[in-house]
Amino acid sequence: MRKEYTMKNTKYDFETVIDRHGTNSVKWDYFDDDIPMWVADMDFMVAPAIQEAILKRANHPVYGYTIVPDELFDAYINWWDRRYDLKMSRQDMAYSMGVMPSISSMIRCLTDVGDEILIQSPVYHVFYYYVEDNNRKVLENELIYENGEYKIDFDDLDEKMSKVDLMILCNPQNPIGKIWSREDLDKIHELSVKHDVIVISDEIHCDLTDPGIKYNPFKSADNVIRCLSPSKSFNIAGFQSSIVHTTNSELLDKIKTQMHIDNSDSCNVFATTAVIAAYDESEDWFEELKEVLYENKQIVKQYLAEELPVVKLVDCDATYLLWLDCSALNVPSEVLSGFLRENQGLFLSAGIDFGKCGDNFLRMNIACPQKLLKEGLARLKAGVIALNIIKRGM
Ligand SMILES: Cc1ncc(COP(=O)(O)O)c(C=O)c1O
Repeated sequence: MRKEYTMKNTKYDFETVIDRHGTNSVKWDYFDDDIPMWVADMDFMVAPAIQEAILKRANHPVYGYTIVPDELFDAYINWWDRRYDLKMSRQDMAYSMGVMPSISSMIRCLTDVGDEILIQSPVYHVFYYYVEDNNRKVLENELIYENGEYKIDFDDLDEKMSKVDLMILCNPQNPIGKIWSREDLDKIHELSVKHDVIVISDEIHCDLTDPGIKYNPFKSADNVIRCLSPSKSFNIAGFQSSIVHTTNSELLDKIKTQMHIDNSDSCNVFATTAVIAAYDESEDWFEELKEVLYENKQIVKQYLAEELPVVKLVDCDATYLLWLDCSALNVPSEVLSGFLRENQGLFLSAGIDFGKCGDNFLRMNIACPQKLLKEGLARLKAGVIALNIIKRGM
């Protein structure tokens, strides 16, 4: 019998559908689709403490250049210490206007034009863009997909590490939602030391795990740079704020110089306020958010199993991005995504965006009120039925 998932009693409102049209939202205002479930931002109201802090700052009528206060770095230090037992020191951190601007700067200062840079696919598509836009080449260590699960091909990784100076790791991995195990991370680190490779560990999705589960931070070491940000966890990507962390002071100086040249180290007047209010004052909101996301995931799991078994949810324990195995439909992901948009007004990301090996998949963002989620699922089903009818008629 179908289990009805009802929202647990939450202190905060995760149910109201907010009209985001007309806010210059990439998700809602960029395309005409009526249900956008692609780009990684959430349709929930922000934590009240963040909104209050922003309104308070906005009430002061001067918005000039701003410094990054120590309180911002303390907020990061305390969050990671408290939640993940990861010790970071202020002198090992640098401010950046977002994870991707900092990665782009690192690509420029740590590699040369024409170099290959290692990534593990399927992975966040913007890694490809920034490597290629900087006139470097992507070298892929394709993950192995077997029996509905992903694992690392360590032989291939070993071989490919020998060809590069830089690897960009995604932990947890977007789009497959996988938290890399301590063992996997240690093996990656071992290989990076063996081949003298610098590893950028992008941990932007690290907080967004199933309740009771924690991600494993990558090791702090001389050849490791960590990118952290509250923008996914607290849905404040619009403030464009992150930090870079490495215990290698020489490396950090090099990165800081490049970020300065690229002007990616400056700070938005509202960003520091939002970040501090997020980490220092919004942890209870965040804990509720995790429950809500988990419930949403269960809804999708159950719906697909009962109503649309031709589409399989790849098991995951992190992120609000679900990776849907559509191989049984036998349609390229771009065609499938395009069809759902045209036929149903539903926008899911095409798997091929995340690498060739993602072509049998769609990525679905489930960070929205249940009403929207259920409508999205109904449209997915209607779209798949319509597609099959058309295919049969051909
Ligand atoms: C793995 C990963 N890194 C970085 C970003 C973007 O970070 P930022 O907006 O701070 O540049 C995203 C956004 O979806 C992401 O998924």
